[in-house]
Amino acid sequence: MKTGIEELTPKQIVAELDKYIIGQDKAKKSVAIALRNRWRRQQVEDELREEILPNNIILIGPTGVGKTEIARRLARLASAPFIKVEASKFTEVGYVGRDVESIIRDIVDLAVNMVRAEKEEAVEEKADEMAEERLLDILLPPPPDFNEMANDFDKQDETFAKWKRTREKLREQLHLGKLDERKVELEVPVSSSPMMQIISPMGIEEMGMNLQDMLGPMFPKKTKKRKMTIPEAHQFLVQEESQKLIDMEEVVREAINRVENAGIVFLDEIDKIAGEDSGHGPDVSREGVQRDLLPIVEGSSVVTKYGMVKTDHVLFIASGAFHVSKPSDLIPEMQGRFPIRVELDSLTTEDFIRILTEPENALIKQYTALLATEGVKLEFTKGAIREIAKLASEVNDRAENIGARRLHTILTTLLEGLLFEVPDTIVEHAKISDKDVRETLRDIVEDEDLSRYIL
Ligand SMILES: Nc1ncnc2c1ncn2[C@@H]1O[C@H](COP(=O)(O)OP(=O)(O)OP(=O)(O)O)[C@@H](O)[C@H]1O
Ligand SMILES: [Mg+2]
Repeated sequence: MKTGIEELTPKQIVAELDKYIIGQDKAKKSVAIALRNRWRRQQVEDELREEILPNNIILIGPTGVGKTEIARRLARLASAPFIKVEASKFTEVGYVGRDVESIIRDIVDLAVNMVRAEKEEAVEEKADEMAEERLLDILLPPPPDFNEMANDFDKQDETFAKWKRTREKLREQLHLGKLDERKVELEVPVSSSPMMQIISPMGIEEMGMNLQDMLGPMFPKKTKKRKMTIPEAHQFLVQEESQKLIDMEEVVREAINRVENAGIVFLDEIDKIAGEDSGHGPDVSREGVQRDLLPIVEGSSVVTKYGMVKTDHVLFIASGAFHVSKPSDLIPEMQGRFPIRVELDSLTTEDFIRILTEPENALIKQYTALLATEGVKLEFTKGAIREIAKLASEVNDRAENIGARRLHTILTTLLEGLLFEVPDTIVEHAKISDKDVRETLRDIVEDEDLSRYIL
């Protein structure tokens, strides 16, 4: 199992985030503390533990400065179940009445898959061995009934030894991949036939129940024979064997436990459910969505297909630009449940320079790698990078401030020519200077209308 984020110290968590996100130290710090507090709570004795509630956080900041990115990176780090939802989607037409409890059901599904994958990894070797034996049984069925030779021990031994030898030879060939072209026939389960598909009445699925699962045992499992190559068959058998080795009940128990004690829900775009209702259109009332969310954030029990899940200790991280509405526009009960507020800073030209070059997924690194596949060595002078950052700030100031997203549009526009030309034109080395940047982009930047469309 990979090291869980909960075992990382706050400083280590920040260091991990630093690999991808420039600046925003306050936000990184509070997220790191909140996460570590989860672990700390787990160490506290029972009675007091129940009393310690998570420090839910609201991240506030303009668009494109790293709010969602912080969440996304946390998700990758976390062995804790993590789910990201747009709060605004609950106000959309088509989601009318869609209950917000689905968030919890989704995160439980996620946790179950996560725990199952971990357990699968743990039994992988064993499952692999068992699959191999089964495959060999198919390739070379055991010798004819020993009973027939019951009285002739010599003969029995002989036949058996011979069979055993052949089997080991086959095993060797199998390992060497010499049988990869061969096909075998296997019994595979048929996913329930369309005739038996049950159209569940509205609402049942929402309850987290699946009629098919409930009725499943009433119908015998159907199987059919399928031909497949040896490697395919091996994979299939490994799957089947590992299913047998894994105790699903234990998986579910652990998954629920993880959601209840370590789950993290990231509520993006929370500002979109704050403030006055638009008063027109078929939008679900924003306040209504907040009222729906409240019990989950406050702590309640949600019915899922795996059983009841308590949300009291789930950590909620909300985020929003809060351009129009303010956190104080949230209903008071909601505000009370998010005691920690962190503001993210607008990004400066200096930040842009670092964002372009430093993160492990920095844009410049991405394009350098893309062009290297065409045999092009792409280089930027220091001046060129500064120029790109400066232009990004300029356009952000003049048109709309979209934060670091501006770097994407500027860089694609800058490199469009090159990206189109190669490999038809052979370019071995493309060194881009500040002058190149200016020449390619000046006209577009200076023409306000043009830059509005292109950059
Ligand atoms: N501080 C930062 N460090 C590195 N990259 C960043 C930073 N801020 C933004 N980016 C880049 O810009 C992109 C957009 O940022 P992000 O999705 O985090 O915006 P946001 O703050 O959630 O904005 P919105 O309010 O519009 O949702 C990210 O995918 C990332 O590549
Ligand atoms: Mg966002």
